[in-house]
Amino acid sequence: MASDVTRPLVVGNWKMNVADGGSGAFARQVAKLGPYRCRVAICVPHPFLSEVDRALRGTEIAIGAQDCSDQHAGAFTGEVSARMLATFSCAYVIVGHSERRARHLENDLAVATKAKMALDCDITPIICVGETLAERNSGEALTVVSRQVSAVTRRLGLDVARCVFAYEPVWAIGSGRSASAEQAQAMHSFIRDQLAQQGSAAAAVSILYGGSVKPESTGKLLEQPDVDGVLVGGASLNLAHFSEICRVAGVSSGIGAAWPSDDAQSGASLSAEV
Ligand code: PGA
Repeated sequence: MASDVTRPLVVGNWKMNVADGGSGAFARQVAKLGPYRCRVAICVPHPFLSEVDRALRGTEIAIGAQDCSDQHAGAFTGEVSARMLATFSCAYVIVGHSERRARHLENDLAVATKAKMALDCDITPIICVGETLAERNSGEALTVVSRQVSAVTRRLGLDVARCVFAYEPVWAIGSGRSASAEQAQAMHSFIRDQLAQQGSAAAAVSILYGGSVKPESTGKLLEQPDVDGVLVGGASLNLAHFSEICRVAGVSSGIGAAWPSDDAQSGASLSAEV
């Protein structure tokens, strides 16, 4: 664990899977199954921030958003600024998720600027980087990730030390096929070396792995010296799976947590689609 924050960070990314009410109750159940002995955050769709914010107040679970604008204010229809997110107790915001890079054509500069906007509002950006399968197969994975990371370091300079990075190989997201622990470690170490060029504080940022993380794969991933946590999509919508991932992460921090209660075995799910 290279991060100066010694406990692993587990971040749930609900994506657009929450149809209606229930998000606050689900979040509260996640909190109830703690303490987890790792850092835990849940990134929720914008319309549910208020409900989840209320539900998690006074708990150990932090809340985050899934995107923010690269502008602070103005005529940007449909956008949500980091300033707006700061009116909730948003501790994190995901930026540069591959689903946004691909579907909304977000480029490296826009992603880096979104990270800057978040930092301006004291929100920690979770900056996603990662290669597609075609890029990996053609031997370009390191080049692509290096380009994505350097866009951020160029824009943020020493402030990069205030960010979290998430290595999410695009081919592993939602595919059920996680990168191996060795593949993750190799890329995390590469990213850390690149960040180290900005100084020792930057070298200590948390680097999460994301892409089909499951309870069974979490321990091995977190054993890797440069894997400081996990970004969890599908499995974060299932109470038993997400709380088990947090429990395993707590154990990997060396402190350990008991398997919390029968509630965790219930398999309660936030989304019928998952
Ligand atoms: P997944 O998603 O865990 O469902 O693969 C991860 C992510 O996209 O953040």
